[in-house]
Amino acid sequence: IPVEPFDLVVFGGTGDLARRKILPALYRRFLAGQMGETSRVIGAARSVMDAAGYRDFVRAAIDEFDPVSAGDEGALAAFLERLSYVAVDATGDTGWDRLAGEVGSGRIRAFYFSVGPRLFGALAERLHEYGMADSDSRIVVEKPFGRDLASARELNRVLAQHFHEHQIYRIDHYLGKETVQNLMAVRFGNMLFEPLWNSQYVDHIQITVAESVGVGGRGDYYDRAGAMRDMMQNHLMQLLCLIAMEPPAKFDPDAVRDEKLKVIRALDPVAPDNVVRGQYEADGDKPDYRAQVGDPESTTESFVALKAHVSNWRWAGTPFYLRTGKRLKDRASEIAVVFKETPHSIFGEDAGRHRNILTIRLQPNEGIELGVTIKEPGPGGMRLVDVPLDMTFAEALGPDSADFPDAYERLIMDVIRGNQTLFMRGDEVEAAWAWTDPIIEGWEERGDAPKPYDSGSAGPDDALMLMHRDGRRWREIK
Ligand code: BG6
Repeated sequence: IPVEPFDLVVFGGTGDLARRKILPALYRRFLAGQMGETSRVIGAARSVMDAAGYRDFVRAAIDEFDPVSAGDEGALAAFLERLSYVAVDATGDTGWDRLAGEVGSGRIRAFYFSVGPRLFGALAERLHEYGMADSDSRIVVEKPFGRDLASARELNRVLAQHFHEHQIYRIDHYLGKETVQNLMAVRFGNMLFEPLWNSQYVDHIQITVAESVGVGGRGDYYDRAGAMRDMMQNHLMQLLCLIAMEPPAKFDPDAVRDEKLKVIRALDPVAPDNVVRGQYEADGDKPDYRAQVGDPESTTESFVALKAHVSNWRWAGTPFYLRTGKRLKDRASEIAVVFKETPHSIFGEDAGRHRNILTIRLQPNEGIELGVTIKEPGPGGMRLVDVPLDMTFAEALGPDSADFPDAYERLIMDVIRGNQTLFMRGDEVEAAWAWTDPIIEGWEERGDAPKPYDSGSAGPDDALMLMHRDGRRWREIK
């Protein structure tokens, strides 16, 4: 679907996120025909560079991060023609007049703040001062949106001085993932699941976002954040909301976000013994967490697992177990809805009691699996066996369907279309911090240190115990 002509200014246009994600995503949307004839992208950053220099920079980024698409030389050259660059000083006056001259009128103007949150206020202010923002302009802000409730409130306050909420697009890239959007389709596009989607039928829910990589070159940022701020407060929280929320009346931004907010507000505070933090150990020649972040004393967690309760009519009594971490066994993210066991076995004690598990694989090998119980074939009587009804997108919809657009492609185009459904509202982010803050403060007050875990494992043993003591267990990370 073509979108209206736009000018997109990327502040932090020479940064890592721009290189890895934003610029390759824009190029792919260009290839898909979504950047009409006159739409343009303007890189803005501190470095002094001319448009030709920026085009070289962008070409190198696309070569590196999307070599396949970069192969179409003619298209790439045409895309690069759409780019320009202005050196600006976010907190001073240099470059702003020129930038104002570059941004066209009579078209959608979007400003992507791919910079640290401390610059959000200065950028918002200058956009107004130099007459670039109108009532239809949009700003896009990246996570982390603050580091606690107080700082998130302050950011919301500063942005609200210059922009209305309907102009502010807070990115959580998990919401742009095809499989995450699919959660809503599965829940609200089928009759089968919703009647069973409550504590009467669901024993518990597990949400796992496991990464096999370590903190890599992001040690500086990561060591100040940790898994709780980096992943739990946003990505896992969003997944929890989509799984637990009531059906919105419409798939529209406020209807969806109102329901998500209610989930966050219904979360009980988490007791200290329902949270486990971990930190990875060395693995062969791969350094341990502390060496990687360059602080031998660091007590930041690279893993967190917790048990959450959504205290409302639908979910009272059904725990949600959430875990995420780096340097785990595999890169595997999934949500498992574990139904209760059948109440009675008509096949006798030997046949055992069985349960269904609905697993939504977010990445990789995206798909849905429903575990069902059937008769084990053969003459040996009524023996039962659990088998998966398995649907991978690639098999069901053809190989191209597994070639999902990257989350950023979808989200940037939603900004241009003016659709905020997949973006976080200010009150949502604040509510999420209000829930995570006491957990983090508790660690700080008690001086809790994270438990070491082997690289390539499923996290510290205490995380296994979190479920074992409830008579449950985590699904294998694979
Ligand atoms: C980011 C986190 O938001 O998400 C990273 O800051 C993490 O630490 C990344 O690695 C994971 O995203 P994805 O899309 O690879 O699952």
